[in-house]
Amino acid sequence: MNADALFTPFRHKTLSLANRIVMAPMTRSHSPGGVPTADVASYYRRRAAADVGLIVSEGTGVNRPASLNDPNVPRFHGEAELAGWQQVIDEVHEVGGVMAPQLWHVGNVRTRHESWTPPGPYDSPSGLSRPGKSFGQPMADHEVADAIAAFAQAAADAKRLGFEAVELHGAHGYLIDQFFWEGTNERADPYGGPSLVDRSQFAAAILRAVRHAVGPDYPVIIRLSQWKQQDYAVRMANSPDEMAAWLGALADAGADILHCSQRRFWEPEFEEDGSDLNFAGWAKKLTGLPTITVGSVGLSGEFIASFGGEGSEPAALDELMRRFDRGDFDLVGVGRALLQDPHWATKVRDGRSTELQPFRREALATLS
Ligand SMILES: Cc1cc2nc3c(=O)[nH]c(=O)nc-3n(C[C@H](O)[C@H](O)[C@H](O)COP(=O)(O)O)c2cc1C
Repeated sequence: MNADALFTPFRHKTLSLANRIVMAPMTRSHSPGGVPTADVASYYRRRAAADVGLIVSEGTGVNRPASLNDPNVPRFHGEAELAGWQQVIDEVHEVGGVMAPQLWHVGNVRTRHESWTPPGPYDSPSGLSRPGKSFGQPMADHEVADAIAAFAQAAADAKRLGFEAVELHGAHGYLIDQFFWEGTNERADPYGGPSLVDRSQFAAAILRAVRHAVGPDYPVIIRLSQWKQQDYAVRMANSPDEMAAWLGALADAGADILHCSQRRFWEPEFEEDGSDLNFAGWAKKLTGLPTITVGSVGLSGEFIASFGGEGSEPAALDELMRRFDRGDFDLVGVGRALLQDPHWATKVRDGRSTELQPFRREALATLS
């Protein structure tokens, strides 16, 4: 295993990373009442101290009544909540780490809690939780404007607290992605329409508002996925041309880095095209922007199955390195391997492959 190339610096705008390893955003639900605790700060500190180049936080809610569907997921607004995040970033900085909060609105993905509901109605583009399934009301114009402003305010707060970048959660079937998806966006206003670029105008408005709030040099990452939790097979862009138009609109609106979420990073994006480039590979080729790949790096099985209890064994990094060395992407997102083991990056850097751990479901229960 030679992963030396991952341990080279990365710079973009004001972002300066010691290496290419990004801790992927992972909801941990260990922030009672929405406030990150001292244990949450220590959890991130341990990873920052062990050679993770950039930590992207678990999704954290922007200031809309129903931006979150779980009372134990941290918010990114409110005095106690932001004080909790201040402690997180201060501890990460104490050990030389770099971090971005992942700013999140879950849209109308319903809570799994039986005895809890969000303190306001669910937001969604058209009152559809998946194609053909009504749930809640379409957002009124003033609610759309308020959601855009909420992302911008959160980004401004992230910068003020000292985070080095922000990530917008535009993936996996949550609010921003519900706007991208024709199956959940039937709006007849400027945020809807027949083309993917039409339906990208909500994300673009958020990006412009965020850019305005943080200034031209502050790095803004957006996370995107073709797949949805509502439908793993669905795709937003069905051809390189469609993808170029989609990502181009986001780049024009102010996105700096594209975080391209796949469940398995080795899967080609447009197989019929004869190319083996993955999503991050195409995104970089089509936009020229830096990209982050993610999905089963260092593990044998993908993450959705792991929620059902399936374990994953350590896997070689050769295929990842082949693509990285070819220049397909700039940064590598690592989820469960880093959830399981805070020292994963150090072990990879030092070639301690026999010490890499399998991922076990039990790791989800604690903040070790
Ligand atoms: C426990 C858990 C929580 C997650 N929460 C989020 C989240 O809050 N935001 C997000 O964009 N992705 C989330 N994901 C997806 C991960 O960021 C990542 O894309 C996925 O786990 C694939 O990477 P891996 O195979 O290295 O684990 C989560 C994954 C796990 C395992």
